[in-house]
Amino acid sequence: MMVTLHINGEKHTIDASQDMPLLWAIRDIIGYTGTKYGCGKGLCGACMVLMDGNAINSCQLPISNAEGKKIITIEGESKNLQNLQKSWAELNVPQCGFCQPGQLITATALLNSNPNPTDEDIDNAMSRNICRCGTYQRIKNAINLTVE
Ligand code: FES
Repeated sequence: MMVTLHINGEKHTIDASQDMPLLWAIRDIIGYTGTKYGCGKGLCGACMVLMDGNAINSCQLPISNAEGKKIITIEGESKNLQNLQKSWAELNVPQCGFCQPGQLITATALLNSNPNPTDEDIDNAMSRNICRCGTYQRIKNAINLTVE
């Protein structure tokens, strides 16, 4: 089935099963590999992308449900995403780095909906993303640095 996806400002028409998780269309067909596969069960947040400004687990979303939506991956452009990336670099947030694209996408969605989050707001929003290196405090610091 032909499905047209809007990813990072470009249209991509792909021939794939409508049940294919968006993650695999993004990574294997379209070629944006910054979005990661972690658990495949909607539990870890490594596969987060923005869909109309909100963070979603792309491993759980069939491509048929992404048609007509504006998808932004870690490679894409969004003011909050770029501002957060600068803070991430300034504070050397990543350790192994694997989960960080998903962390940045969730943080972007947080700032899209709440430009001045409290520490509690940050904890609540970021609880959807797991970091096995334990960079949680640096992530919180980087979000706070971005909104200062
Ligand atoms: Fe999608 Fe873990 S890979 S939530």
